[in-house]
Amino acid sequence: MDTITYLKNFVRDRNVASITPTSAIGVKKVCSKIDFHKPSVIVEYGPGTGVFSNYLLKNMGTGSRLILIERNKNFDLILKRKIHDPRVVIVNDSAENVLDTLRACQEYEADYVLSGIPFLLLSDEMKHRILYNTHRALKKGGKFLAYQTCFQTDNALKNRLWQYFPKVQSKYELLNIPPLRIYEAVK
Ligand SMILES: C[S@@+](CC[C@H](N)C(=O)[O-])C[C@H]1O[C@@H](n2cnc3c(N)ncnc32)[C@H](O)[C@@H]1O
Repeated sequence: MDTITYLKNFVRDRNVASITPTSAIGVKKVCSKIDFHKPSVIVEYGPGTGVFSNYLLKNMGTGSRLILIERNKNFDLILKRKIHDPRVVIVNDSAENVLDTLRACQEYEADYVLSGIPFLLLSDEMKHRILYNTHRALKKGGKFLAYQTCFQTDNALKNRLWQYFPKVQSKYELLNIPPLRIYEAVK
């Protein structure tokens, strides 16, 4: 069902950049970098149909908040239909406006920002705006966790992350179609 939804939106919106949601193993690997024992503000860029959001909500405590920023209108509507949880805010906007979104939610810093948006397709200017504002949105020690298809060079994202974050790591997750590259950047 999700794959059909992705396919339909993929043909109309190149920023969807995928024909299927991230695998359960991929989701678990990315989220293993999150400490669910502490109350946190988690921002997710590009939740799509909510495969990460559902996992986060199952593992987050009642004192945590999840802010979903989805640019695609159809996915935004699907999320708003599916997710009814007092810890969640769903915003139809683009990731570079994260600071406005946080302010509107009366949150000023995030503990984690997760991102599935396709950096490979973004202009240098847009990459800069997203990474600069993401860095500003995170508290000190906060993490930017991004996952991308593995078919890209360090220039697409990793080298950029070094320009904003003092600590950057990346790993491959092969049990996903296509395999993923997972980045962890710490402020
Ligand atoms: C590769 S899909 C990932 C979807 C889902 N998170 C998953 O793991 O299956 C990329 C998602 O990012 C969204 N997206 C692309 N550019 C965006 C932007 N600038 N701001 C917010 N969402 C964006 C797309 O609409 C799509 O939902």
